[in-house]
Amino acid sequence: MDAIENLIKRSSSGHLDLPIPNREELDLIYQAALRAPDHKGLKPSRFIEVSGEGLDKLSNIFVKFVKENDPDSDESTVEKFRRMPYRAPLIIILVSGYKENMGVPEIEQMMSTACSAQSILLALNAFHYSGMWRTGRLSFNESISNLLGLQKNETVIGYLYIGTNVGPKKQKDLPKNADFVEIWS
Ligand SMILES: Cc1cc2nc3c(=O)[nH]c(=O)nc-3n(C[C@H](O)[C@H](O)[C@H](O)COP(=O)(O)O)c2cc1C
Repeated sequence: MDAIENLIKRSSSGHLDLPIPNREELDLIYQAALRAPDHKGLKPSRFIEVSGEGLDKLSNIFVKFVKENDPDSDESTVEKFRRMPYRAPLIIILVSGYKENMGVPEIEQMMSTACSAQSILLALNAFHYSGMWRTGRLSFNESISNLLGLQKNETVIGYLYIGTNVGPKKQKDLPKNADFVEIWS
């Protein structure tokens, strides 16, 4: 796929099913992710790849999260959290680990992980897979970090739900550059 076409035509999908990228494709996808811009080369990003029985493990963690944080939640809310990971056959959890005292603010280090996320989405698109970046209560949250066993300096900045798009193909109108670009020349 042409590189510029990949950038312009990438789209997210919430309708995801098998097939997912194979190991060789995933290795390239991570290589793309790990080439994200990174102030001082601090390597703040790491990824937790969840599929198969890993989805059951994640589902149990999400249930624990809601029960611990909303002890009064009803059955349907708990069920909603239980089902969340099954919205795609593969999830990549985006973890940003803040390296303190290195002169690079935490926000910049998280932005580097966000760039990795976009690179993953673009690499998926190039391989004709799709994904959806999701956040919500299960991101930027100390309780979920603890349940996932992260280090104290680490934060979940989101989840990439991944698979093959089995839903409608989105035809998005391209924004007009003039509405968003100010030119000084
Ligand atoms: C940081 C971030 C968090 C997001 N969180 C959610 C989310 O929790 N739920 C959701 O439906 N979409 C979320 N989105 C939006 C989708 O990932 C997606 O970008 C959006 O549906 C537009 O689709 P497109 O990427 O094809 O333009 C988030 C996007 C970003 C960048």
